[in-house]
Amino acid sequence: MTTKVVWNVTIPCFLLFHFFREGELDAGTETNINLNHQIYYHVMGSDQSEDILCWKDPEHPKYSFGASVTEDGKYIVLSIYEGCDPVNKLYHCEISSLPRGIEGFRGTEELLPFVKLIDNFDAQYEVVANDGDEFTFSTNKSAPKNKLVRVNLKNPEFWTDVLPEHEKDVLESADVVNNNHLLVCYMSDVKHVLQLRDFGTGNLIHQLPLEIGSVFEISCRREDKEVFIGFTSFLSPGIIYRCNLASTIPEMKVFRETSVPGFDRTRFQVRQVFIPSKDGTKIPMFIMSKKDIKLDGSHPTLLYGYGGFNISLTPSFSVGRVVLCKNMDFVVCIANIRGGGEYGEEWHKAGALAMKQNCFDDFVACAEYLISDRYTSSKQLCIEGGSNGGLLIAASINQRPDLFGCALAHVGVMDMLRFHKFTIGHAWTTDYGCSDKEEEFHWLIKYSPLHNVRRPWEQSSDNHCQYPATMLLTADHDDRVVPLHSLKLLAVSYIYIDEAADRYGFMAKMLGASWTE
Ligand SMILES: *[C@@H]1O[C@H](CO)[C@@H](O)[C@H](O)[C@H]1NC(C)=O
Ligand SMILES: *[C@@H]1O[C@H](CO)[C@@H](O)[C@H](O)[C@H]1NC(C)=O
Repeated sequence: MTTKVVWNVTIPCFLLFHFFREGELDAGTETNINLNHQIYYHVMGSDQSEDILCWKDPEHPKYSFGASVTEDGKYIVLSIYEGCDPVNKLYHCEISSLPRGIEGFRGTEELLPFVKLIDNFDAQYEVVANDGDEFTFSTNKSAPKNKLVRVNLKNPEFWTDVLPEHEKDVLESADVVNNNHLLVCYMSDVKHVLQLRDFGTGNLIHQLPLEIGSVFEISCRREDKEVFIGFTSFLSPGIIYRCNLASTIPEMKVFRETSVPGFDRTRFQVRQVFIPSKDGTKIPMFIMSKKDIKLDGSHPTLLYGYGGFNISLTPSFSVGRVVLCKNMDFVVCIANIRGGGEYGEEWHKAGALAMKQNCFDDFVACAEYLISDRYTSSKQLCIEGGSNGGLLIAASINQRPDLFGCALAHVGVMDMLRFHKFTIGHAWTTDYGCSDKEEEFHWLIKYSPLHNVRRPWEQSSDNHCQYPATMLLTADHDDRVVPLHSLKLLAVSYIYIDEAADRYGFMAKMLGASWTE
């Protein structure tokens, strides 16, 4: 018998989650499939064998359960999952309505009389708080960006919206604090914002000040006036803020801060700008640098991007970036181009399949902005990306060799006509399409890095030029993006460099001839 999760309630007991299996001698080393999740009531100090069975579902051995007791001790709420997708059924059991309490189920095979509130796997439902029978949930039911809804369990036909879905921002969390306040966290334009709202009406009371960054934890209780907020950003590996919600204007005071020796975050700044791409779509970009740098076009600059598979590049701390800014006066930029999940599924789709060119146009627009707004010049601008981002880099230097001084492409997907034939490549056809289909072949051949290497005089633009200095990185045991992608691109590029460069370079060295202009 293995015990999985334990959590505390107001009475001295636990609900335990058991997976039952034969034999216990090899506990912790077993590899048998885990089936038949069950929930038990455990009295502190008693033997586990005396636990009281609360719930099981032998007809659905793969279901897994999460149960919690509401803060007022009135209800047990049961969430049922069928896999890793965060959608759940939701049942409840009113503890006070059990004639002999949970103890009454001791020694019986009876399950607690859970009442079904949600009995399908359409959406996610999470309890935010309850006042007696009146429950507030966070859900994505008919609200892909999430919303808060309220229902009375004694009258489950009527649901009302407390905080309707926002048109653009994703509701990431909601907690009840200071008795009747709601602390909500939204992902808004790729960064978190915190708001204090009225729990009853959902109306905004305060916007809590937060720099550009990500909230990674909120620790609070309904009965407490204070909350603790864990925060990280480009400039901070971790700050815990303490905030007193009872004061007229709640202030975010630093409670603990992880400091990095030799790094003073107050000497640096992060801006967020929105750059119109080729089709006018505004692309967010973070720009990190020393404070008050002069915009004279002189700064070495690193522009990083990804743009695929619904992956969002949110603010996070990187020692490597800090060293570039602090010790080498770099400007470091993150472009949140289309293909990522920064604004949900639409943003992802707008940079996938037939729309993949948008990723490169967005990235080029960001690079052009850094030059036109005089952060840097082409010569001092380096671009970097890995995997799908390696493809981004290689396609960008093919399309705009004039725009960059240097390029770093890690483990890139470079052969867009054949990627699906190797290891896990077939899984990427959801983002790229597949050259086996004629229509999709035409999308891919247009930007496939391997098939678009051009000599300067073959380039489509008027100002023919050499490629920027480029480093291709691959890994000889990479079974995701197999090394042949980078090796083939390298081989093709080499073929295009006349062998004469080697012959005459050797000769010049032997004869002591030097480059004079
Ligand atoms: C809610 O989100 C989950 C996980 O992303 C998703 O599978 C489900 O389809 C969504 N439900 C609705 C109704 O949008
Ligand atoms: C996209 O990513 C977000 C955030 O990780 C996730 O909630 C959402 O379910 C993902 N959507 C799809 C279609 O995978």
